[in-house]
Amino acid sequence: MLLHIPGVLDTAQVNVLRDMLADAPWADGRITAGTQSAQVKNNRQLPVDSPAARDAGEIVLAGLKRSALFFTATLPRRIVPPLFNRYDGGTNSFGSHVDNSVRTLGTGDHVRTDVSATLFLSDPASYEGGELVIEDTFGTQSAKLPAGDLLIYPSSSLHRVEPVTGGVRLASFFWVESMVRETERRRLLYEMDMAILALRAQQGEHPSVVQLTSCYHNLMRMWAAV
Ligand code: NI
Repeated sequence: MLLHIPGVLDTAQVNVLRDMLADAPWADGRITAGTQSAQVKNNRQLPVDSPAARDAGEIVLAGLKRSALFFTATLPRRIVPPLFNRYDGGTNSFGSHVDNSVRTLGTGDHVRTDVSATLFLSDPASYEGGELVIEDTFGTQSAKLPAGDLLIYPSSSLHRVEPVTGGVRLASFFWVESMVRETERRRLLYEMDMAILALRAQQGEHPSVVQLTSCYHNLMRMWAAV
């Protein structure tokens, strides 16, 4: 499931992040790439353990915590600490690849990547190119979102970032290990949750709404690994 989640960060929060990233110690983006993706990856990243990445990551995590839509769409069990990348116009792109299935944290813990996420931080009008292109079972989708908006998609998808031909594209990216591992189950739960919300807004706590809510939670109980 590909989902656009608007306004995870507001304009003021995006500006704070951009200021933090302006003087940050950018390094070669291949530091976190696997063997295949390293061959097609050409961008810059903040080192995982740099204070800049940690501080900026806290702002992103706080935004995710406020987002009910992010929670219901991903059902997060663990979130890999957010990373940050920078594509400079005329030189940077990231060819087609699939993300590593497991990320190993500094603590030695392993996190399975079920959902990939990109939080756009640059105004789309401020750079040329740089679309995030995702190939999934429904075909090819392309996204270039407003600053502060998040795109989530299954980590099993092949994806790429088109060459940035002008300006600078800043983004945060991270992965979610979900309580519900299977994409199709997560999608079903998400659609059910959205339908229940809409019904409740129309009907209030009608007995059928209560019954459906019970079904949602009992499906979660059956499928969730926590
Ligand atoms: Ni990727």
